[in-house]
Amino acid sequence: MKDLRTWLDANAERHLGELFDLLRIPSVSTDPNHAGDVRRAGEWVRDKLAAAGVHAELHDTPGHPIVYGEWLGAEGAPTVLVYGHYDVQPPDPLDEWVTGPFEPTVREGRIYARGATDDKGQMYAHLVAAEAHMAVNGRLPVNVKYVIEGEEEVGSKNLENYIRANKERLKADVVVISDTSMFAPGVPAIVYGLRGLSYFEMTVEGPTHDLHSGLYGGTVANPINVLCDIISALKDDDGHITVPGFYDDVRDLTQEERDAWKLLPHSDEVWRASCGAETLTGEAGFSTLERRWGRPTLDCNGIWGGFTGEGAKTVLPAKATAKFSCRLVPDQTPEKIEDLMEAAVSKLAPDSVRVTFRRMHGGRPVVVDTTHPAVGAARAALTDAFGAEAVFIRGGGSIPVVADFSTILEIPSVLMGFGLPDDRLHSPNEKYDLACFHGGLLGATFFLSHYGKA
Ligand code: BES
Ligand code: MN
Ligand code: MN
Repeated sequence: MKDLRTWLDANAERHLGELFDLLRIPSVSTDPNHAGDVRRAGEWVRDKLAAAGVHAELHDTPGHPIVYGEWLGAEGAPTVLVYGHYDVQPPDPLDEWVTGPFEPTVREGRIYARGATDDKGQMYAHLVAAEAHMAVNGRLPVNVKYVIEGEEEVGSKNLENYIRANKERLKADVVVISDTSMFAPGVPAIVYGLRGLSYFEMTVEGPTHDLHSGLYGGTVANPINVLCDIISALKDDDGHITVPGFYDDVRDLTQEERDAWKLLPHSDEVWRASCGAETLTGEAGFSTLERRWGRPTLDCNGIWGGFTGEGAKTVLPAKATAKFSCRLVPDQTPEKIEDLMEAAVSKLAPDSVRVTFRRMHGGRPVVVDTTHPAVGAARAALTDAFGAEAVFIRGGGSIPVVADFSTILEIPSVLMGFGLPDDRLHSPNEKYDLACFHGGLLGATFFLSHYGKA
Protein backbone atom coordinates (compact mmCIF):
# COMPACT_ATOMS: atom_id res chain seq x y z
CA MET A 1 0.00 0.00 0.00
CA LYS A 2 3.00 2.24 0.54
CA ASP A 3 3.90 1.86 -3.14
CA LEU A 4 0.39 2.79 -4.18
CA ARG A 5 0.53 5.92 -2.06
CA THR A 6 3.90 6.87 -3.51
CA TRP A 7 2.62 6.31 -7.04
CA LEU A 8 -0.50 8.39 -6.40
CA ASP A 9 1.57 11.22 -4.91
CA ALA A 10 3.92 11.18 -7.88
CA ASN A 11 0.99 11.38 -10.31
CA ALA A 12 -1.18 13.84 -8.38
CA GLU A 13 -0.71 16.75 -10.74
CA ARG A 14 -1.47 14.70 -13.84
CA HIS A 15 -4.60 13.31 -12.20
CA LEU A 16 -5.88 16.75 -11.35
CA GLY A 17 -5.29 17.82 -14.95
CA GLU A 18 -7.22 14.79 -16.21
CA LEU A 19 -10.17 15.51 -13.95
CA PHE A 20 -10.15 19.07 -15.27
CA ASP A 21 -10.45 17.70 -18.83
CA LEU A 22 -13.54 15.74 -17.81
CA LEU A 23 -15.00 18.72 -15.93
CA ARG A 24 -14.65 20.87 -19.04
CA ILE A 25 -17.18 18.69 -20.88
CA PRO A 26 -20.66 20.18 -20.22
CA SER A 27 -22.44 16.83 -19.88
CA VAL A 28 -25.81 18.23 -18.76
CA SER A 29 -28.09 15.23 -19.15
CA THR A 30 -31.42 17.04 -18.94
CA ASP A 31 -30.65 19.39 -21.85
CA PRO A 32 -31.07 17.83 -25.33
CA ASN A 33 -28.66 20.45 -26.72
CA HIS A 34 -25.91 18.81 -24.66
CA ALA A 35 -26.55 15.22 -25.78
CA GLY A 36 -23.30 15.25 -27.78
CA ASP A 37 -21.37 16.50 -24.75
CA VAL A 38 -22.89 13.82 -22.53
CA ARG A 39 -21.73 11.21 -25.01
CA ARG A 40 -18.29 12.80 -25.16
CA ALA A 41 -17.99 12.53 -21.37
CA GLY A 42 -18.98 8.86 -21.61
CA GLU A 43 -16.29 8.30 -24.23
CA TRP A 44 -13.81 10.06 -22.00
CA VAL A 45 -14.59 7.67 -19.13
CA ARG A 46 -14.40 4.65 -21.44
CA ASP A 47 -11.04 5.78 -22.79
CA LYS A 48 -9.67 6.41 -19.31
CA LEU A 49 -10.62 2.90 -18.22
CA ALA A 50 -9.11 1.43 -21.35
CA ALA A 51 -5.88 3.36 -20.81
CA ALA A 52 -5.72 1.94 -17.28
CA GLY A 53 -5.87 -1.56 -18.73
CA VAL A 54 -9.56 -2.25 -18.11
CA HIS A 55 -11.69 -3.60 -20.96
CA ALA A 56 -14.28 -0.85 -21.58
CA GLU A 57 -17.23 -0.28 -23.90
CA LEU A 58 -19.88 2.34 -24.48
CA HIS A 59 -23.35 0.78 -24.44
CA ASP A 60 -26.07 2.78 -26.15
CA THR A 61 -29.49 3.17 -24.55
CA PRO A 62 -32.58 5.03 -25.79
CA GLY A 63 -31.10 7.93 -23.79
CA HIS A 64 -27.49 8.62 -22.86
CA PRO A 65 -24.91 5.83 -23.09
CA ILE A 66 -23.67 3.66 -20.25
CA VAL A 67 -19.96 2.96 -19.85
CA TYR A 68 -19.35 -0.68 -19.04
CA GLY A 69 -15.92 -1.90 -18.01
CA GLU A 70 -14.45 -5.08 -16.59
CA TRP A 71 -11.17 -6.52 -15.39
CA LEU A 72 -11.68 -10.13 -14.33
CA GLY A 73 -8.16 -11.44 -13.84
CA ALA A 74 -8.30 -12.10 -10.08
CA GLU A 75 -9.37 -15.72 -10.06
CA GLY A 76 -11.01 -16.82 -6.83
CA ALA A 77 -11.21 -13.25 -5.52
CA PRO A 78 -14.52 -11.42 -5.06
CA THR A 79 -15.99 -9.09 -7.68
CA VAL A 80 -16.78 -5.43 -7.12
CA LEU A 81 -19.21 -3.48 -9.27
CA VAL A 82 -18.27 0.20 -9.33
CA TYR A 83 -21.18 2.53 -10.05
CA GLY A 84 -20.96 6.26 -10.75
CA HIS A 85 -22.31 8.92 -13.09
CA TYR A 86 -20.64 11.24 -15.56
CA ASP A 87 -23.68 13.47 -16.22
CA VAL A 88 -24.23 16.70 -14.31
CA GLN A 89 -27.02 19.06 -13.34
CA PRO A 90 -27.59 22.26 -15.33
CA PRO A 91 -25.27 25.04 -14.17
CA ASP A 92 -27.78 27.87 -13.93
CA PRO A 93 -28.06 30.53 -12.55
CA LEU A 94 -24.89 31.24 -14.53
CA ASP A 95 -24.21 34.75 -13.25
CA GLU A 96 -23.74 33.48 -9.70
CA TRP A 97 -20.63 31.46 -10.60
CA VAL A 98 -17.38 33.18 -9.66
CA THR A 99 -15.66 31.26 -12.49
CA GLY A 100 -17.41 29.44 -15.31
CA PRO A 101 -19.08 26.12 -14.39
CA PHE A 102 -17.15 24.30 -17.11
CA GLU A 103 -13.86 26.13 -16.57
CA PRO A 104 -12.52 24.21 -13.57
CA THR A 105 -10.44 26.42 -11.27
CA VAL A 106 -8.66 25.86 -7.97
CA ARG A 107 -9.22 28.59 -5.37
CA GLU A 108 -8.23 28.27 -1.71
CA GLY A 109 -7.66 24.54 -1.94
CA ARG A 110 -10.94 23.80 -3.70
CA ILE A 111 -11.83 22.72 -7.22
CA TYR A 112 -14.75 24.77 -8.52
CA ALA A 113 -16.80 23.34 -11.43
CA ARG A 114 -20.17 21.75 -12.14
CA GLY A 115 -19.72 18.06 -11.40
CA ALA A 116 -16.57 18.59 -9.31
CA THR A 117 -18.06 16.58 -6.44
CA ASP A 118 -21.30 15.27 -8.07
CA ASP A 119 -20.12 12.99 -9.43
CA LYS A 120 -17.16 13.39 -11.79
CA GLY A 121 -14.56 14.10 -9.11
CA GLN A 122 -15.69 11.19 -6.93
CA MET A 123 -16.27 8.72 -9.76
CA TYR A 124 -12.85 9.54 -11.24
CA ALA A 125 -11.24 8.18 -8.06
CA HIS A 126 -12.36 4.68 -9.05
CA LEU A 127 -10.87 5.02 -12.52
CA VAL A 128 -7.57 6.04 -10.95
CA ALA A 129 -7.78 3.17 -8.45
CA ALA A 130 -7.61 0.69 -11.33
CA GLU A 131 -4.82 2.65 -12.99
CA ALA A 132 -2.81 2.76 -9.74
CA HIS A 133 -3.00 -0.98 -9.10
CA MET A 134 -2.19 -1.79 -12.71
CA ALA A 135 0.75 0.60 -12.75
CA VAL A 136 2.20 -0.59 -9.44
CA ASN A 137 1.30 -4.31 -9.44
CA GLY A 138 0.27 -5.08 -13.00
CA ARG A 139 -3.05 -6.42 -11.71
CA LEU A 140 -6.03 -5.63 -9.51
CA PRO A 141 -6.50 -7.33 -6.10
CA VAL A 142 -10.13 -8.20 -6.92
CA ASN A 143 -12.28 -8.50 -10.05
CA VAL A 144 -13.86 -5.20 -10.95
CA LYS A 145 -16.80 -4.27 -13.17
CA TYR A 146 -17.84 -0.71 -13.91
CA VAL A 147 -21.23 0.79 -14.71
CA ILE A 148 -20.85 4.52 -15.15
CA GLU A 149 -24.05 6.12 -16.41
CA GLY A 150 -25.03 9.42 -18.01
CA GLU A 151 -28.60 9.73 -16.76
CA GLU A 152 -28.41 9.77 -12.97
CA GLU A 153 -29.42 13.40 -12.73
CA VAL A 154 -32.54 12.72 -14.81
CA GLY A 155 -33.71 9.72 -12.81
CA SER A 156 -31.64 6.87 -14.36
CA LYS A 157 -34.44 6.21 -16.85
CA ASN A 158 -32.69 3.48 -18.84
CA LEU A 159 -30.49 1.95 -16.19
CA GLU A 160 -33.08 -0.35 -14.65
CA ASN A 161 -33.73 -2.03 -18.02
CA TYR A 162 -30.00 -2.25 -18.63
CA ILE A 163 -29.47 -4.01 -15.31
CA ARG A 164 -32.35 -6.42 -15.99
CA ALA A 165 -31.01 -7.18 -19.46
CA ASN A 166 -27.44 -7.69 -18.21
CA LYS A 167 -28.01 -9.54 -14.95
CA GLU A 168 -25.39 -12.19 -15.70
CA ARG A 169 -22.79 -9.76 -16.96
CA LEU A 170 -23.19 -7.52 -13.91
CA LYS A 171 -22.97 -10.34 -11.39
CA ALA A 172 -20.82 -9.19 -8.47
CA ASP A 173 -20.47 -9.55 -4.72
CA VAL A 174 -20.98 -5.92 -3.89
CA VAL A 175 -21.51 -2.51 -5.47
CA VAL A 176 -19.27 0.36 -4.45
CA ILE A 177 -20.39 3.93 -5.03
CA SER A 178 -18.76 7.26 -4.32
CA ASP A 179 -21.56 9.77 -4.84
CA THR A 180 -22.34 10.88 -1.29
CA SER A 181 -20.63 13.07 1.31
CA MET A 182 -18.35 12.60 4.27
CA PHE A 183 -19.87 13.67 7.59
CA ALA A 184 -17.59 16.70 7.93
CA PRO A 185 -14.07 17.74 6.87
CA GLY A 186 -11.74 15.05 8.16
CA VAL A 187 -14.64 12.79 9.19
CA PRO A 188 -15.19 10.16 6.48
CA ALA A 189 -18.50 8.35 6.38
CA ILE A 190 -20.11 5.19 5.15
CA VAL A 191 -23.67 5.94 4.13
CA TYR A 192 -25.96 2.98 4.85
CA GLY A 193 -29.26 4.55 3.87
CA LEU A 194 -30.65 6.96 1.28
CA ARG A 195 -34.01 8.62 0.90
CA GLY A 196 -36.22 7.93 -2.09
CA LEU A 197 -37.98 10.45 -4.26
CA SER A 198 -41.33 11.20 -5.88
CA TYR A 199 -41.39 14.18 -8.20
CA PHE A 200 -44.49 15.98 -9.49
CA GLU A 201 -45.65 18.86 -11.62
CA MET A 202 -49.03 20.50 -11.15
CA THR A 203 -50.70 23.06 -13.40
CA VAL A 204 -53.72 25.10 -12.36
CA GLU A 205 -55.73 26.70 -15.17
CA GLY A 206 -58.55 29.20 -14.71
CA PRO A 207 -59.68 31.66 -17.39
CA THR A 208 -58.74 30.88 -21.02
CA HIS A 209 -56.47 33.96 -21.18
CA ASP A 210 -54.83 36.50 -18.88
CA LEU A 211 -57.35 39.04 -17.58
CA HIS A 212 -57.34 42.64 -16.34
CA SER A 213 -57.21 42.14 -12.58
CA GLY A 214 -59.44 45.15 -12.00
CA LEU A 215 -62.14 44.17 -14.45
CA TYR A 216 -62.22 40.51 -13.46
CA GLY A 217 -60.48 40.40 -10.05
CA GLY A 218 -62.76 39.18 -7.29
CA THR A 219 -65.10 37.39 -9.68
CA VAL A 220 -63.02 34.42 -10.94
CA ALA A 221 -60.46 32.18 -9.31
CA ASN A 222 -56.83 33.22 -9.61
CA PRO A 223 -54.75 30.13 -10.56
CA ILE A 224 -51.70 31.35 -8.66
CA ASN A 225 -53.70 31.82 -5.48
CA VAL A 226 -55.31 28.41 -5.90
CA LEU A 227 -51.96 26.75 -6.57
CA CYS A 228 -50.54 28.27 -3.40
CA ASP A 229 -53.61 27.22 -1.40
CA ILE A 230 -53.21 23.63 -2.56
CA ILE A 231 -49.50 23.53 -1.82
CA SER A 232 -49.82 25.07 1.61
CA ALA A 233 -52.66 22.71 2.53
CA LEU A 234 -50.35 19.74 1.95
CA LYS A 235 -48.48 20.52 5.20
CA ASP A 236 -49.61 21.71 8.62
CA ASP A 237 -47.97 24.17 11.03
CA ASP A 238 -45.98 21.37 12.69
CA GLY A 239 -44.32 20.45 9.41
CA HIS A 240 -46.36 17.25 9.09
CA ILE A 241 -47.56 16.27 5.65
CA THR A 242 -51.36 16.19 5.68
CA VAL A 243 -51.85 13.79 2.76
CA PRO A 244 -53.96 10.91 4.11
CA GLY A 245 -51.92 7.71 4.38
CA PHE A 246 -48.62 9.47 3.68
CA TYR A 247 -46.91 8.16 6.84
CA ASP A 248 -48.51 4.70 6.84
CA ASP A 249 -45.38 2.89 5.62
CA VAL A 250 -42.77 5.06 7.36
CA ARG A 251 -40.57 2.80 9.43
CA ASP A 252 -39.96 4.39 12.82
CA LEU A 253 -36.36 5.15 13.66
CA THR A 254 -35.11 2.71 16.27
CA GLN A 255 -33.98 4.07 19.59
CA GLU A 256 -30.58 2.54 18.83
CA GLU A 257 -30.27 4.57 15.63
CA ARG A 258 -31.47 7.79 17.26
CA ASP A 259 -28.94 7.29 20.06
CA ALA A 260 -26.12 6.61 17.61
CA TRP A 261 -26.91 9.79 15.67
CA LYS A 262 -26.84 11.82 18.90
CA LEU A 263 -23.20 10.83 19.31
CA LEU A 264 -22.16 12.27 15.93
CA PRO A 265 -20.22 15.54 16.01
CA HIS A 266 -23.21 17.52 14.68
CA SER A 267 -23.95 21.15 15.48
CA ASP A 268 -27.26 22.77 14.53
CA GLU A 269 -25.53 26.14 14.38
CA VAL A 270 -22.84 24.92 11.97
CA TRP A 271 -25.54 23.32 9.82
CA ARG A 272 -27.59 26.54 9.83
CA ALA A 273 -24.59 28.67 8.98
CA SER A 274 -23.57 26.32 6.15
CA CYS A 275 -26.65 27.36 4.18
CA GLY A 276 -27.17 30.88 5.52
CA ALA A 277 -30.80 30.34 6.62
CA GLU A 278 -32.18 32.52 9.45
CA THR A 279 -33.09 29.54 11.62
CA LEU A 280 -33.57 25.80 11.24
CA THR A 281 -37.08 24.43 11.06
CA GLY A 282 -38.82 21.16 10.21
CA GLU A 283 -41.08 18.41 11.41
CA ALA A 284 -41.91 18.77 15.09
CA GLY A 285 -40.48 16.11 17.38
CA PHE A 286 -37.33 15.31 15.39
CA SER A 287 -33.72 16.47 15.46
CA THR A 288 -31.96 17.94 12.45
CA LEU A 289 -30.20 14.66 11.62
CA GLU A 290 -33.44 12.73 12.02
CA ARG A 291 -35.21 15.19 9.73
CA ARG A 292 -32.39 14.91 7.17
CA TRP A 293 -32.01 11.15 7.09
CA GLY A 294 -34.95 9.43 8.67
CA ARG A 295 -38.07 11.42 7.85
CA PRO A 296 -39.93 12.09 4.60
CA THR A 297 -40.37 15.62 3.24
CA LEU A 298 -42.45 17.61 0.81
CA ASP A 299 -40.83 20.59 -0.90
CA CYS A 300 -41.85 22.87 -3.71
CA ASN A 301 -38.97 23.00 -6.24
CA GLY A 302 -40.22 25.71 -8.57
CA ILE A 303 -43.30 27.81 -9.08
CA TRP A 304 -44.27 30.19 -11.83
CA GLY A 305 -47.10 31.98 -13.52
CA GLY A 306 -48.36 35.48 -14.21
CA PHE A 307 -46.23 38.56 -14.46
CA THR A 308 -42.63 38.38 -13.24
CA GLY A 309 -41.02 41.17 -15.28
CA GLU A 310 -39.84 44.62 -14.20
CA GLY A 311 -42.41 46.94 -12.67
CA ALA A 312 -46.04 46.13 -12.03
CA LYS A 313 -48.70 44.70 -14.31
CA THR A 314 -52.24 44.33 -13.06
CA VAL A 315 -53.02 40.92 -14.43
CA LEU A 316 -55.06 37.95 -13.35
CA PRO A 317 -53.15 35.05 -14.94
CA ALA A 318 -54.73 32.22 -16.88
CA LYS A 319 -52.50 29.56 -15.34
CA ALA A 320 -49.82 28.70 -12.82
CA THR A 321 -47.47 25.74 -12.43
CA ALA A 322 -45.42 24.23 -9.66
CA LYS A 323 -42.87 21.46 -9.49
CA PHE A 324 -42.69 19.74 -6.13
CA SER A 325 -41.30 16.56 -4.68
CA CYS A 326 -41.22 14.28 -1.68
CA ARG A 327 -38.18 12.60 -0.17
CA LEU A 328 -39.19 9.15 0.99
CA VAL A 329 -37.90 6.84 3.68
CA PRO A 330 -38.23 3.06 4.11
CA ASP A 331 -40.77 1.48 3.59
CA GLN A 332 -42.56 4.12 1.54
CA THR A 333 -42.76 3.43 -2.20
CA PRO A 334 -42.90 6.07 -4.92
CA GLU A 335 -45.86 4.31 -6.57
CA LYS A 336 -48.05 4.52 -3.48
CA ILE A 337 -46.98 8.06 -2.62
CA GLU A 338 -47.79 9.16 -6.18
CA ASP A 339 -51.30 7.74 -5.85
CA LEU A 340 -51.84 9.35 -2.44
CA MET A 341 -50.56 12.74 -3.60
CA GLU A 342 -52.70 12.73 -6.72
CA ALA A 343 -55.79 11.85 -4.70
CA ALA A 344 -55.04 14.55 -2.11
CA VAL A 345 -54.47 17.22 -4.76
CA SER A 346 -57.63 16.39 -6.65
CA LYS A 347 -59.59 16.58 -3.40
CA LEU A 348 -58.09 19.99 -2.60
CA ALA A 349 -58.74 21.39 -6.09
CA PRO A 350 -61.78 23.69 -6.18
CA ASP A 351 -64.33 23.49 -9.03
CA SER A 352 -63.31 26.97 -10.20
CA VAL A 353 -60.11 25.69 -11.90
CA ARG A 354 -58.73 22.74 -13.88
CA VAL A 355 -55.81 21.02 -12.21
CA THR A 356 -53.46 18.72 -14.08
CA PHE A 357 -51.15 16.54 -12.07
CA ARG A 358 -48.09 14.95 -13.66
CA ARG A 359 -45.88 12.28 -12.17
CA MET A 360 -42.24 12.84 -13.04
CA HIS A 361 -39.52 10.48 -11.85
CA GLY A 362 -39.16 8.55 -8.66
CA GLY A 363 -36.78 6.35 -6.73
CA ARG A 364 -37.11 3.97 -3.83
CA PRO A 365 -35.51 4.66 -0.43
CA VAL A 366 -32.95 2.16 0.86
CA VAL A 367 -31.20 1.02 3.99
CA VAL A 368 -28.36 -1.40 3.32
CA ASP A 369 -26.72 -4.17 5.26
CA THR A 370 -23.57 -3.04 7.08
CA THR A 371 -22.25 -6.51 7.92
CA HIS A 372 -20.92 -7.28 4.41
CA PRO A 373 -17.12 -7.79 4.28
CA ALA A 374 -16.84 -4.96 1.75
CA VAL A 375 -18.07 -2.56 4.44
CA GLY A 376 -15.08 -3.52 6.57
CA ALA A 377 -12.80 -2.98 3.58
CA ALA A 378 -14.32 0.46 2.96
CA ARG A 379 -13.87 1.35 6.60
CA ALA A 380 -10.21 0.35 6.60
CA ALA A 381 -9.62 2.16 3.31
CA LEU A 382 -11.18 5.39 4.61
CA THR A 383 -9.07 5.23 7.77
CA ASP A 384 -5.90 4.82 5.69
CA ALA A 385 -6.90 7.55 3.28
CA PHE A 386 -8.15 10.22 5.68
CA GLY A 387 -6.36 9.27 8.89
CA ALA A 388 -9.66 9.10 10.79
CA GLU A 389 -12.32 6.47 11.54
CA ALA A 390 -15.41 6.54 9.34
CA VAL A 391 -18.79 7.15 10.95
CA PHE A 392 -21.94 5.32 9.83
CA ILE A 393 -24.62 7.71 8.66
CA ARG A 394 -27.54 7.94 6.28
CA GLY A 395 -27.86 10.40 3.41
CA GLY A 396 -30.77 12.70 2.69
CA GLY A 397 -30.35 12.56 -1.09
CA SER A 398 -31.33 9.82 -3.50
CA ILE A 399 -29.51 7.43 -5.80
CA PRO A 400 -32.40 5.45 -7.27
CA VAL A 401 -30.25 2.66 -8.71
CA VAL A 402 -29.13 1.50 -5.26
CA ALA A 403 -32.57 -0.06 -4.72
CA ASP A 404 -32.39 -1.71 -8.17
CA PHE A 405 -29.00 -3.24 -7.37
CA SER A 406 -30.46 -4.72 -4.22
CA THR A 407 -33.68 -6.06 -5.74
CA ILE A 408 -32.55 -7.04 -9.27
CA LEU A 409 -28.95 -8.13 -8.69
CA GLU A 410 -29.55 -8.94 -5.03
CA ILE A 411 -26.31 -7.34 -3.91
CA PRO A 412 -25.75 -4.60 -1.35
CA SER A 413 -24.11 -1.27 -2.10
CA VAL A 414 -21.34 0.30 -0.08
CA LEU A 415 -21.60 4.07 -0.26
CA MET A 416 -18.18 5.49 0.35
CA GLY A 417 -18.41 9.17 -0.54
CA PHE A 418 -15.59 11.70 -0.53
CA GLY A 419 -17.55 14.97 -0.87
CA LEU A 420 -18.53 17.38 1.89
CA PRO A 421 -22.00 18.55 2.90
CA ASP A 422 -21.18 22.13 1.87
CA ASP A 423 -20.00 21.24 -1.66
CA ARG A 424 -22.99 23.06 -3.21
CA LEU A 425 -24.20 20.10 -5.23
CA HIS A 426 -26.67 21.24 -7.90
CA SER A 427 -25.95 24.89 -6.94
CA PRO A 428 -23.75 27.64 -8.35
CA ASN A 429 -20.08 27.36 -7.34
CA GLU A 430 -20.14 23.60 -6.80
CA LYS A 431 -16.75 22.62 -5.36
CA TYR A 432 -14.66 19.65 -4.30
CA ASP A 433 -11.88 20.18 -1.78
CA LEU A 434 -8.42 19.13 -2.97
CA ALA A 435 -8.11 17.19 0.31
CA CYS A 436 -11.23 15.23 -0.67
CA PHE A 437 -9.92 14.74 -4.19
CA HIS A 438 -6.59 13.30 -3.01
CA GLY A 439 -8.19 11.39 -0.12
CA GLY A 440 -10.70 9.95 -2.57
CA LEU A 441 -7.99 8.64 -4.89
CA LEU A 442 -6.34 6.95 -1.92
CA GLY A 443 -9.64 5.66 -0.54
CA ALA A 444 -10.81 4.09 -3.80
CA THR A 445 -7.37 2.55 -4.39
CA PHE A 446 -7.01 1.15 -0.85
CA PHE A 447 -10.57 -0.19 -0.95
CA LEU A 448 -9.53 -2.66 -3.66
CA SER A 449 -6.46 -3.66 -1.63
CA HIS A 450 -8.43 -4.27 1.57
CA TYR A 451 -11.28 -6.06 -0.17
CA GLY A 452 -8.72 -8.29 -1.85
CA LYS A 453 -7.49 -9.35 1.58
CA ALA A 454 -10.95 -9.84 3.10
N1 BES B 1 -25.15 12.31 -5.63
C1 BES B 1 -26.48 12.75 -5.50
C2 BES B 1 -27.22 12.11 -4.33
C3 BES B 1 -26.65 12.31 -2.95
C4 BES B 1 -25.82 13.38 -2.62
C5 BES B 1 -26.98 11.42 -1.97
C6 BES B 1 -25.31 13.53 -1.35
C7 BES B 1 -26.51 11.57 -0.68
C8 BES B 1 -25.65 12.62 -0.38
C9 BES B 1 -27.22 12.42 -6.79
O1 BES B 1 -26.48 12.80 -7.94
C10 BES B 1 -28.49 13.22 -6.87
O2 BES B 1 -28.42 14.41 -6.93
N2 BES B 1 -29.63 12.53 -6.90
C11 BES B 1 -30.89 13.16 -7.10
C12 BES B 1 -31.92 12.14 -7.49
C13 BES B 1 -32.20 12.03 -8.96
C14 BES B 1 -33.38 11.11 -9.19
C15 BES B 1 -32.35 13.31 -9.68
C16 BES B 1 -31.36 13.81 -5.84
O3 BES B 1 -31.09 13.32 -4.73
O4 BES B 1 -32.07 14.81 -5.96
MN1 MN C 1 -24.54 12.22 -7.80
MN1 MN D 1 -26.78 15.03 -8.24
